[in-house]
Order: sequence, then C-alpha cells, then structure tokens
Amino acid sequence: MTSVSLPSTRLGELAASSLRIILASQQPSGAFPASLTFSAYRGYCWFRDGSFIADAASAAGEEEAASRFFDWCARILDDRRGQVQVIVAAAAAGASAPDEKMLATRFTFDGREGDDDWWDFQLDGYGTWAWALAEHCRRSGIDASRWSSALELTCDYLVSSWRRPCFDWWEEHSEEVHVSTLGCVVAGLDALSELGVLDDTRRTAAARAAAEARVLIYERGVQGGHLVKWLDSGDSDASLAALISPLGVLDPASDLTGATLDTIAIDLEVDGGVHRFRADTFYGGGQWPLLSCFLGLAELARGNRGRAQTLLEWAASTAGPAGELPEQVDRHLLAPDRHQEWVDRWGPVASPLLWSSAMYLRLALELGVVAPIERTGR
Ligand code: BGC
Repeated sequence: MTSVSLPSTRLGELAASSLRIILASQQPSGAFPASLTFSAYRGYCWFRDGSFIADAASAAGEEEAASRFFDWCARILDDRRGQVQVIVAAAAAGASAPDEKMLATRFTFDGREGDDDWWDFQLDGYGTWAWALAEHCRRSGIDASRWSSALELTCDYLVSSWRRPCFDWWEEHSEEVHVSTLGCVVAGLDALSELGVLDDTRRTAAARAAAEARVLIYERGVQGGHLVKWLDSGDSDASLAALISPLGVLDPASDLTGATLDTIAIDLEVDGGVHRFRADTFYGGGQWPLLSCFLGLAELARGNRGRAQTLLEWAASTAGPAGELPEQVDRHLLAPDRHQEWVDRWGPVASPLLWSSAMYLRLALELGVVAPIERTGR
C-alpha cells in the first residue's frame, strides 16, 4: 500500500495501482526496471524511462523512491568518471570519441552495461535525469549537492557532445540529430545551470550550450510552423509533445506549441490513442498510452483541460485487470503486417511497462484526479 491520497474513482484507482506497480518494482539499488517481465527489457533500467518514472514518483510525493533512483544514476556516472573524461578530452581536441565509447542507454540494476547488444548512444536520458532531479529538488526542498559530482559529469558530457547525432527516444536513426533529444538536452542543461551545484565555468558552459541548442531547434527543427522529428526533416513525432510539458522547453502559449500539438493530433492520434510516428512498424505500429499522457500534459499546459481529460481516459482504457498499463495496444495499427514478426521475436507487448504507469500517474496528478501525499519536508 502507498499512502497517496486518492478518491475512489476508476481513474483515481488506476493512478493508485500505477504508483503501487512503480514502487513495488523498484530495485534495492534504486533502479526502476523498464518492464520486469518483457523479454527484451528484463533486467535493465533506462535513463530515459527511469527519469520520467522518478519524476512521477516525486510528483506523487514519494520523495524517498525518487531520490533512490537519482542515487542509482549518480553511482553509474561517478563510476564512469574516467570514460567521461576521455570523451570530453577527445571533443576538446576536435576528435569525437566513437559512438561505442559513449555512455550507454540502459544499465543492469546493479549498474553494469550488461551483455546484450543494444542501440546504445542516446543522449536524451542524460538531459532528462538532470531535469527530473532538479524538479525533484524544487518540489521537495532536498539539497542537490547530494548528487553534485554526477551532475558535474553530466554537464561536461552534454556540453562536449550535445551536437552529435545519436539514436532517438525510439532507439532508431542514429545518423540524425533528433529534436526530442535536443529538447531533453536543453531541459537538462537549463536545469543544471540553475541548480546551484556547478562552479561558474560549468554553469556558464551549460547555459551557453542550452542557448545554442535552442537556436538549433528553432533554425532547423521547425518546418511548416511545427517541430519536426529530426533536423531538416518534415515529419512529426509524438515525443515532441514532451518539450511543452513536462520538460517546459517551449512556451505553452506560443504558436509553435499550438502547431506542434495540432500536427501530432492530425498525423498521429486516432480517437485518443497516439502513435509514435507515421512510419512506425514496431509490433505493427500501435498506439502508446504513455504518448496519450504526454500529449495530455502538453494540452493541459496550453489550457485544453477537456482534451487532457479525454487523453487520460483513453490511456485508462488500455489498462489490464491489475491496473497494469502496456507499452502499446493494437486497436489501430499503422503496419498490421509487421505485428506478428515482433510477437515471434520478443513475445507479447511489454506489460506492465513502468514508463506507461508513470505517465498515467503524472497526468492524473496534473489534472487533480489524485493528490500527492503530504510532503515530509527536509
Ligand atoms: C522504446 C524506448 C524505451 C525502451 C524501454 C523501447 O521499445 O523505444 O523508448 O526506452 O523500449 O521501455
């Protein structure tokens, strides 16, 4: 049981079970598993998923669980100080470290890279953890200096490498610079520059890199008035909604926000269920409840409460009998003929996927469907 204060509505009960699933799955090391049961994810925690999960736990008032996750991230970074120094030195000398020498995307619960090949080298998670940690400190009053050495390493890593192409949120197209990735980097660098744990040199470097990355987004990450999937492309991607909320990189009242959310709705939403991108073929390219929740958070930020509520309802409609939320559902597939090959390869769709539970909980809290537990204060 958690102590979160919850009205006994269907949507509220699902928020309670989402939080229960998150807390019950957290490992003694602090890691949040992506999915304890899904074959390809079993045994691993992603910086991306984990940071959004910790943010939801923190928003629900579960300070200790969130802090333990940030401890896990910090240990991973501190243990790789030498690796980060080599990457930073290579960048300073004008010779980028090869992709396989960059920090991994996911780690085992005890903080190793693991033995399975993965689409490693994704920068977004390192921005997202710094952003989520700063939000956690702001909400709870916890002093960020507990994580200062890892935050310094994160700053050095992102400042040295943020311009590089890498795999995106969906672990695809490593040859491109992805706008969602840049958004996570901007959110992380902005947070780092304002957190009060960096020396002046690092603080200035973080603020400068964030400003340059923003300019790049505006100059080459916008086509037809809306954000696009990668620099100079014309396509949309539902992950872009995160830049409006919760990451707060775009002004929710701006025309760019309006056009970006409208484009996602037109291109990628069917009856409240949101696809990742038009060309998606993973499990046939279904609809992801976590993306309905990201879109809901962004719509709420621009004042569309009714839309946000509808998107939450759709996400709730995907829940299983124990309140578990899947990675995706197959009600509307973009590539139906590609569904079975993934079932044959990896088994049924991941469920529960903790990131889905987290985004449901986060939107339910933001809508006031449930209230966070009382802060204990520090
Ligand atoms: C998704 C990633 C996610 C990972 C673990 C992949 O299928 O594309 O965004 O981090 O699963 O949940």
